[in-house]
Amino acid sequence: MPIKKQRANKNNAPVPVGTERVKVLLSQAKIQKRIREMAKLIRKDFPHEPLLLVGVLKGAVLFLADLARQITGEVTFDFIAVSSYGKDSRSSGQVKLNKDLDSSIEGKTVIVVEDILDTGLTLRYLLRILQQRKPKNLRVAVLLDKVERRLTDVHADYVGFPIPNEFVVGYGLDYAERYRNLADVKILSLPGGSH
Ligand code: IMP
Ligand code: MG
Repeated sequence: MPIKKQRANKNNAPVPVGTERVKVLLSQAKIQKRIREMAKLIRKDFPHEPLLLVGVLKGAVLFLADLARQITGEVTFDFIAVSSYGKDSRSSGQVKLNKDLDSSIEGKTVIVVEDILDTGLTLRYLLRILQQRKPKNLRVAVLLDKVERRLTDVHADYVGFPIPNEFVVGYGLDYAERYRNLADVKILSLPGGSH
């Protein structure tokens, strides 16, 4: 069954500020505590390696900023940007590279940092192109994992929180570019929306 791109309301219509309903799913404190644990797990797996964090723009920016500050030892950053395209892009899995990395990852220990794993199609594409560049190690850290929505067997090595099939915003995640700046992760319900 083809999975449609999840939208917070049917027509993707602009919603006047204040008419949306939000409910906290993950508080700032809970997120920060989990990030400290994830940072320790990552460093435990690679105790002596310089780590290159590859953030997926734009959603992963806040997560990367907090995660990076909790990982001890040598850490560098780079960023990549992708978007899905084509008709019914979600089920076809066509992904376009909008911004490539600045530097080579050959021989490096790379941790891809992503906000949310949904169908998995974006990550599958990213891992395929990054693997071709011969990193020494390639791992994935995601803050959120919507397990139910997966269309491909891609998995993350470090998962912050498995979450239910709800449209979420905040802490980097957007709806029409809004709400990225919220410190908590919230469930967004819009007037006329299906959630
Ligand atoms: P995937 O290719 O379906 O795994 O898509 C992952 C991308 O879809 C994420 O990086 C987000 O940009 C976006 N996304 C998926 N679910 C949500 C959500 O609940 N809120 C906001 N963005 C989402
Ligand atoms: Mg994203």
